[in-house]
Amino acid sequence: LQAEALQASGISVEKSQEAINLAPSIFDRLGIDGFQELSTLFYNRVFDDDDPRFKSIFSSSTKLEAIENQYRFFVQTFGGPDLYRQTKGKYTRLVGRHANYSIGKQAAHRWVEHMEAAMEEHSVLSKDEEARKCLVDYFKYTAQYIVVASKFMRSDQLSGGTSVDKGRVW
Ligand code: HEM
Repeated sequence: LQAEALQASGISVEKSQEAINLAPSIFDRLGIDGFQELSTLFYNRVFDDDDPRFKSIFSSSTKLEAIENQYRFFVQTFGGPDLYRQTKGKYTRLVGRHANYSIGKQAAHRWVEHMEAAMEEHSVLSKDEEARKCLVDYFKYTAQYIVVASKFMRSDQLSGGTSVDKGRVW
């Protein structure tokens, strides 16, 4: 899986982890407010995307829920308190939590494009090239990892009962 994600993203797992190990940590640079700002800028773009193949992936959540889930995960991942664990339990299960959505390579690419644009607009990250570069690598790798790993999720492992139509993955 790591080899496939490397091939699809051009980023090695080691390179993708630099964002997590950066000193000072990205949490020290951004704080909780900074991650809230990032997720808000990002999901504003996602919910304004004019391609229905992309936008419809997000139709089961409100924008506020999506922002909340994402920023809590980022705070926890990049050196802050375990906000995500507090609401979602011990395991992050990133692949499993995405398995109910129809996510292909193009969707992953679009996701990363919106995140890059959000970082360029961000009050802190726009001025912190080191953090931005590390985050782009982390996002590129992780997004493609989600795509390749979800091909191996069996439908009986999906939560919620609805199975994804893998024939229409974009
Ligand atoms: C949740 C789509 C990549 C982290 C979601 C949701 C959707 C989605 C539709 C549900 C919204 C909600 O939280 O209610 C996608 C797509 C991606 C992608 C299309 C492209 C590959 C990523 C990446 C990360 C990530 C790269 C992290 C590095 C999360 C987190 C949640 C989430 C933490 C919250 C899950 C939960 O707590 O239920 N994503 N995502 N996603 N995504 Fe993604």
